[in-house]
Amino acid sequence: MAIEKEKKTCGQVMAEWREAIWNPRTHQFMGRTGSSWALILFFYLVFYGFLTALFTLTMWVMLQTVDPYIPKYQDRLSVPGMMIRPKTDTLDVTFNVSNTETWDRYVKMLNDFLEPYNDSIQAATNDACRPGRYNEQPDNGVLNYPKRACQFNRTALGACSGLNDPTHYGYADGRPCILIKMNRVINFFAGANQTMNVTCAAKKEEDAQKLGEMVMYPPNGHIDLMYFPYYGKKVHVNYTQPIVAVKFLTLEANVDHYVECKINAVNIATTDERDKFAGRVAFKIRVNRD
Ligand SMILES: *[C@@H]1O[C@H](CO)[C@@H](O)[C@H](O)[C@H]1NC(C)=O
Ligand SMILES: *[C@@H]1O[C@H](CO)[C@@H](O)[C@H](O)[C@H]1NC(C)=O
Ligand SMILES: *[C@@H]1O[C@H](CO)[C@@H](O)[C@H](O)[C@H]1NC(C)=O
Ligand SMILES: *[C@@H]1O[C@H](CO)[C@@H](O)[C@H](O)[C@H]1NC(C)=O
Ligand SMILES: *[C@@H]1O[C@H](CO)[C@@H](O)[C@H](O)[C@H]1NC(C)=O
Ligand SMILES: *[C@@H]1O[C@H](CO)[C@@H](O)[C@H](O)[C@H]1NC(C)=O
Repeated sequence: MAIEKEKKTCGQVMAEWREAIWNPRTHQFMGRTGSSWALILFFYLVFYGFLTALFTLTMWVMLQTVDPYIPKYQDRLSVPGMMIRPKTDTLDVTFNVSNTETWDRYVKMLNDFLEPYNDSIQAATNDACRPGRYNEQPDNGVLNYPKRACQFNRTALGACSGLNDPTHYGYADGRPCILIKMNRVINFFAGANQTMNVTCAAKKEEDAQKLGEMVMYPPNGHIDLMYFPYYGKKVHVNYTQPIVAVKFLTLEANVDHYVECKINAVNIATTDERDKFAGRVAFKIRVNRD
């Protein structure tokens, strides 16, 4: 037996739809009365109000435990990384002595990097600290902010300071300077009370001859303890990172030289296989000349 489908006219369908939205007999809007809608609205208001309150409370409790001056999560065991200036993506410093354009940007990078080290700026912002010991500025119960920083004068970099230097850090005469810096690690007592220095050498011992003579600034590549500890960007406002410069005096021209510089400090390991910048940095240097 076939069920005969009730055929509706277009007008009937429209009327049904209209009634589904607003039913004048029962006073229902979309199938609910006004009070029912009000109840739902009220429920969601309370529900979201509660969620907001919960979120705010959680945030507030979290913020109570945060000291704005000390990063909450820091890896105290991390070994400071080393980096060079001028820095290029591949740590490759290649240039042609007679072609100014090839070393112009290196000189500019060094000029920009060393600007804050100008003696006049250092004298105006930082203290002349006593060398050979840490510049500790503990809080001792009361906040001792901001912390003072120690002077690192540009002139301490001697022939690599770029001051009154017609050779432009040695790039114009094929005896270039490379600056080496150690990345900042908050609250780290580098050297553990013993003197530190940075030394550079050919990556392969047999290449030492070609790499030739080097001179370090400050003398012996010394890094003083007075630049530690570093207390963080927010409190140690004028902190000036110590740097060491190496000048290559007799670099063989037209040859790739692979150099590694590392820090010698009793509490900084330089043999981490996973992090090749831990306490050391390797780079390539090449001087082209006719
Ligand atoms: C820093 O010293 C260099 C060389 O004397 C000079 O050219 C530069 O303008 C100085 N920079 C500042 C910010 O004083
Ligand atoms: C840095 O240079 C300034 C200005 O010449 C000088 O007064 C100050 O003693 C120097 N500081 C150090 C640590 O050599
Ligand atoms: C930082 O340097 C500015 C000048 O540039 C100086 O006024 C201020 O006192 C210094 N702050 C600290 C904590 O050394
Ligand atoms: C450095 O030596 C001083 C004096 O002997 C000592 O008080 C301090 O704890 C030492 N600091 C470190 C990081 O070893
Ligand atoms: C650098 O430090 C190491 C270890 O602390 C030391 O053996 C070496 O003689 C120092 N080198 C220079 C040039 O001072
Ligand atoms: C160095 O630059 C000069 C001038 O641009 C050029 O004649 C010469 O061939 C270059 N030398 C090398 C080794 O690239």
